[in-house]
Amino acid sequence: MPESSENISKRKKEHIELCLTDDVSFKEKTTGFEHYDFVHYAPTEVEIDKIDFAQKFFNKLIQFPFLISCMTGGTIEAESINAKLAIAANELRIPIGIGSQRQMFEDKMNVQSFQIIRINAPNVPVLGNIGAAQVVRYKSIDPIKYMIEIIDADVMVVHLNPLQELLQKNGEPNFAGLLSCIEKIANEIEVPLFVKEVGAGISASASKSLLDAGVKGIDIAGAGGTSWAGVEILRNNEDERDYFWDWGLPSSYCIRTNAALKNDYDFVLIGSGGINSAVDAAKAFALGADIIASARTILQQLNKNNVEGVIELIEGWFAFIKKIMFLTGSKSLSELRKSKLKLKEELH
Ligand SMILES: Cc1cc2nc3c(=O)[nH]c(=O)nc-3n(C[C@H](O)[C@H](O)[C@H](O)COP(=O)(O)O)c2cc1C
Repeated sequence: MPESSENISKRKKEHIELCLTDDVSFKEKTTGFEHYDFVHYAPTEVEIDKIDFAQKFFNKLIQFPFLISCMTGGTIEAESINAKLAIAANELRIPIGIGSQRQMFEDKMNVQSFQIIRINAPNVPVLGNIGAAQVVRYKSIDPIKYMIEIIDADVMVVHLNPLQELLQKNGEPNFAGLLSCIEKIANEIEVPLFVKEVGAGISASASKSLLDAGVKGIDIAGAGGTSWAGVEILRNNEDERDYFWDWGLPSSYCIRTNAALKNDYDFVLIGSGGINSAVDAAKAFALGADIIASARTILQQLNKNNVEGVIELIEGWFAFIKKIMFLTGSKSLSELRKSKLKLKEELH
């Protein structure tokens, strides 16, 4: 029995409130970025001012390879958040994701809370979003086509959140038939299909099945940042020592192992899950991410310092990454990806 629209709105509101705190971080497990260090290159000839991050994202030009991760929609609060995030994305010329569009289709509710992203960010790639549980429940792909059309999405994303569905009251932990649905969607929609996790990571072998099904982008959304098990455990007032709070594959491991698939597949690798600083961001690129993404840190920054704060944060991260590129002798991000990072234990 699908959840009522009132329940969904209430849940979305609680998600935002909890994510404005750090109480929902992983407890013991980390992203793993801290195990790596950059390889200093003394005779660097990199000219910092000549580093340019601009690149094509399908047929649109973006200024930085940074995605504001899919977050919200479907409530009044979500509309105001999305409106502001979209202004920041448009100003920065970076892609932005929309939160799950389920409510927009199932109740035709709060469509404006999603559309505001396209209205305020007319010039940048916008990513649509729907959950795996809904994808297997819908009997046709018409809902997905509607979601793409209504926001003029450049990419459609299916999020895989088995852990969250398992722990969420009224969750739908049933993904039977998922891969064949993904294959059908990938074949029938007119924009590329991406798949993402929400903080438990995607292994390289899982990615292989998804890429074989026609997926064009993988956002590994690994462990070490926001714990969606943690969010649901707090919402349920359950014991915080729950084993599943820290479940998942660390982001650094997912990026490194998925990057190896680049030899055999042509796809966009998004590194996310606990990218909370410029150093995390630089390490994610060095491990092989094409694009990086953050969710909770951006929401918190928006809440504290508004649109200008988000713009300054992301510009600041890329200014810092330039310094790392100078010191590692990397003229471009592809050069940064070439062995510019070592496990700290190798540097003894
Ligand atoms: C308030 C909030 C709402 C989210 N809602 C969605 C969603 O609707 N769809 C989705 O794919 N991911 C959603 N996410 C997950 C993020 O896109 C991201 O994968 C995850 O939080 C891990 O990244 P982080 O550690 O940078 O927060 C949400 C995240 C936050 C913080």
